[in-house]
Amino acid sequence: MFSYVILDKNVMQNIDKDKLPRHIAIIMDGNGRWAKSKKKSRIFGHQEGMKSIDEVVTCAVELDLGVLTLYAFSSENWSRPRLEVIALMKLLDRFLDKETARFMTHNIKLTAIGRLNKLPKPVQTKLKQVIKTTAANTGLTLNLALSYGSRDEIVDAVQSLCRLAVQGRIKAKDVNEQLISDHLYTVGLPDPDLLIRTSGEMRISNFMLWQISYAELYIAPVFWPDFRRNEFLKAIREYQNRDRRFGKVKNA
Ligand code: FPP
Repeated sequence: MFSYVILDKNVMQNIDKDKLPRHIAIIMDGNGRWAKSKKKSRIFGHQEGMKSIDEVVTCAVELDLGVLTLYAFSSENWSRPRLEVIALMKLLDRFLDKETARFMTHNIKLTAIGRLNKLPKPVQTKLKQVIKTTAANTGLTLNLALSYGSRDEIVDAVQSLCRLAVQGRIKAKDVNEQLISDHLYTVGLPDPDLLIRTSGEMRISNFMLWQISYAELYIAPVFWPDFRRNEFLKAIREYQNRDRRFGKVKNA
């Protein structure tokens, strides 16, 4: 599936490989509206969205990007019509089946964040297997947010810290930013430098609330199935032109 494409040289020339974000996170939005605009079913929209995933991952590998997080299924998405949920789980299942060989060829490490125990059992088993198989890969970390909600993640982190406190293993004064980060699902991953959302919506939708504190935001005007390689590169170029000050004054 990750068909290697020769990148358009002009587009690539404008990308500074030394100034790449370490971690790009994407809220893939607009499959349904894209499908509606073409008088197709929402499920068709999700299938087309898989092609964008393919292109963006291929491009991330070519760029030698560190981490790419894709918001594939939110904790709220469980409330969608049953048939749509089933179709999304099937797409995930097929994705895991089809891509493992390519993950190995292209040195991709698959990770996942979210309440993964809510996924259908066979998908959980397959996911765990692919994570294990790719664990020693050292190229791109492809991190899928599945059954993910940022507030759930914070609740789970606080519960885990409370358990440590009750067991006497930490004290209130031990709680700091690092300890909280270490109890989030994203433990060990750098925070996103760039957060992309497609379909023009200006919302965060319960996504990585803690981790995106200093991320640059990029809102793409196109629906996810139209967000292909050139759109991805455009977002990275825009990121590279931003002035990141992290609340400080430049050259002070
Ligand atoms: C948003 O479109 C899309 C999602 C539900 C997440 C993205 C899912 C895919 C690309 C396919 C599944 C991928 C995996 C790896 C399982 P929307 O349905 O919210 O669009 P709308 O806002 O226009 O209705």
